[in-house]
Amino acid sequence: MSDTKQLCLSGKGVTKVFGHGKTKTVAVDNVDFEFYSGDLISIVGESGSGKTTLIKMLLGLTSVTDGEIHFMGQPRDIKTRHKKKEYWKGIQAIFQDPYSSYNIFSKIDTVLLDCIHMRGGRRLPKETKTEMMREACSFVNLKFDEMTNKYPFELSGGQMQRLMIARIFLLKPKILLADEPTSMIDACSRATILDFLLKLRDEVGMTIIFITHDMGLAYYVSDTVFIMEKGKIVEHGSANDVILNPKAPYTVQLLNDIPKIHDPWEFSRNRREVSDAG
Ligand SMILES: Nc1ncnc2c1ncn2[C@@H]1O[C@H](COP(=O)(O)OP(=O)(O)OP(=O)(O)O)[C@@H](O)[C@H]1O
Ligand SMILES: [Mg+2]
Repeated sequence: MSDTKQLCLSGKGVTKVFGHGKTKTVAVDNVDFEFYSGDLISIVGESGSGKTTLIKMLLGLTSVTDGEIHFMGQPRDIKTRHKKKEYWKGIQAIFQDPYSSYNIFSKIDTVLLDCIHMRGGRRLPKETKTEMMREACSFVNLKFDEMTNKYPFELSGGQMQRLMIARIFLLKPKILLADEPTSMIDACSRATILDFLLKLRDEVGMTIIFITHDMGLAYYVSDTVFIMEKGKIVEHGSANDVILNPKAPYTVQLLNDIPKIHDPWEFSRNRREVSDAG
């Protein structure tokens, strides 16, 4: 499916080493990847496999020890502050902890207004800006009139993540990096956030790189899946191929770790066998 799509972000030999000598950690180890426009790509791996480090390198928050990153077909250049700011118009991120993502002194309307200004809308009439903020809130089922004059910390965790997505809706980056955005909120809000990510892909045409350690979730939302183990990409492909027909032993292990909600009878049968044997 991806063959006809445009390559938007790719990497070759991308490596990140923290520390040196005895404290040396190769967090990301010589990875190659190609992400295509309009896809929802999941990167799956257990804790410490290097997912966040990779995301931070993609965003330009962490330097790359070795390797190359290409953005929209060109070698990425973020050497100056100005170039980095330009790059961030095309690529944005939402992180795990919504509470850490906001300036606590900014009210919600200021948060949203800043996004309009970042997109060059500073001179737009006030009514147009209000209309844009209203539209962004309604995209994520938040009522703008109830949001004005509030601070982000006055919202629930789920509402805050929705506000993060409203920001992304206004910023309209080509690529959204979402680092476990649902892991700190309840199951109901989690499903809602996933639906909004899918809506960003389908209605705004955004490419989404979604980090998770949950294979079930990856299967549910993704077009493409990359599996990371100890800093390396051990398998990648369409969600169907990787999850229904895994090749790497690590992928098989991750799949075996998913709780078998469809297998309650097998569980009780095994228990019976155990007690019969005992
Ligand atoms: N700033 C840092 N300094 C030193 N080591 C680091 C730093 N950041 C990450 N690491 C190490 O790099 C490795 C990968 O960490 P990373 O946070 O990328 O994993 P992760 O896959 O995102 O894990 P999780 O699922 O728990 O979020 C770990 O061994 C971690 O200890
Ligand atoms: Mg992480």
